[in-house]
Amino acid sequence: MKKVITYGTFDLFHRGHYNIIKRAKALGDYLIVGVTSESYDIERGKLNVRDSLIKRIENVRKTGLADEIIIEEYQGQKINDIIKYNIDLLVVGSDWRGKFDYLKNYCDVMYLERTKNISSTKIRSEGTIFNIGVVTDDINDNGIVSETKFVSGLHVERVYSDEPDVAEAFRDKYELDSCWTDYDEFLSDLDIVYIKCSQKLRADYIERAIEQNKYVISDTPMTLSPERLQELFDKAKEHQVVLVERLTLVYLRAFNQLVWHVHSNLVGDIISVKCAICQDDFEGGKSFNETVSHAIGAIIKLLGRECLDVSTNAVTDAQGNFVYDVITMKYKNALASIEIGSTVDVEDELVIIGSGGRVTIPNDWWNTGYFEAKIEGNEFLKRYSFNFEGNGLRYLLQELLIMIRDKRTECTRLFYDESLLLSEILKRINQRG
Ligand code: CTP
Repeated sequence: MKKVITYGTFDLFHRGHYNIIKRAKALGDYLIVGVTSESYDIERGKLNVRDSLIKRIENVRKTGLADEIIIEEYQGQKINDIIKYNIDLLVVGSDWRGKFDYLKNYCDVMYLERTKNISSTKIRSEGTIFNIGVVTDDINDNGIVSETKFVSGLHVERVYSDEPDVAEAFRDKYELDSCWTDYDEFLSDLDIVYIKCSQKLRADYIERAIEQNKYVISDTPMTLSPERLQELFDKAKEHQVVLVERLTLVYLRAFNQLVWHVHSNLVGDIISVKCAICQDDFEGGKSFNETVSHAIGAIIKLLGRECLDVSTNAVTDAQGNFVYDVITMKYKNALASIEIGSTVDVEDELVIIGSGGRVTIPNDWWNTGYFEAKIEGNEFLKRYSFNFEGNGLRYLLQELLIMIRDKRTECTRLFYDESLLLSEILKRINQRG
């Protein structure tokens, strides 16, 4: 009996999918179809899948052509499947030509011509597209243009700057449709506004966008005043839109898994959280407030909202510039410390000390795809690793799309009261001498 296998996501099932399954079936006696799991797709950066795994499996089943359906859950699974199911032939479409030649050691590999003029991507692009406009005062993309390309249903359409040269240069550099220097005109026809201008101007641009019922993503911090932030959130609720702070860490799978594990007692009760950042390493040297916001956000997610006290200590140079800061946040049964090297080289890491062990995210922990745990009584490190693509912004964008489609009125990963607490703490820190 000749056994054939083929793989795919089979999202928004279309005739191209049917054709390849049919042709694969005709090439043998028994056909296995592998359907990618959601977690595998997320891990390989494919964030545009619309149908659930169950629906995609059901669509393959309904063809009546598959003798068996399996789930493809991880990179490298194909070799295991070929051995496990004793496969003679692997069939995929010509878009994969050459990519699976390494499997020829295990079975025959055949690339079939794709069906012309149809793909899941094409069907998705025929659906609703939400337009994004960027508010900027410099000509460099900080990921919003490049990362949007990975999330179907979003399109960066235009740019606003109060400096005409900047607006034009940004438009040309990133091949956007238009550029504007009149903010109200810029806002019309937009669904989402991305604010990446200097921090002092952000709150006003946010407010005006919300008043026009736009969803807003803003670089963090949106303002240094908690009272002003509260006003902005109230306004967002009133206008039934969501105001999202760009704190990508809280959208990353590895960080969410870490929070889940730590809260499920992986290392016992949390005694200490230490976040250290060398400012130069933080996304090419961002402002102190942006850098420290990520650390405060991580601590709030790990230790909660009941922060009892915040204290600061800093070293300044002869000119009075901050060189090195240590910020301590006191909780009932734990302490958190943030160490920022503004001009000195601090080793980047996030360390959680628990009553029964320690968790570490080494290096650039705000971009984490990895963490490790040393658990008391266990001589080996436990290692957790998750792939993620780009700078993490696409995961935030993907969730924003869900918020818009579901008409949610509050951000799903960083709740408004968490953002407000973050802002209170930031205000305290900024009062340092
Ligand atoms: N396929 C095909 N002809 C098409 C579309 C897909 O033969 N017009 C094949 C692919 O080459 C692959 C299988 O169907 O072997 C599953 O493809 P999948 O990636 O799920 O479908 P796409 O439509 O290519 O999806 P996307 O646009 O999201 O990449």
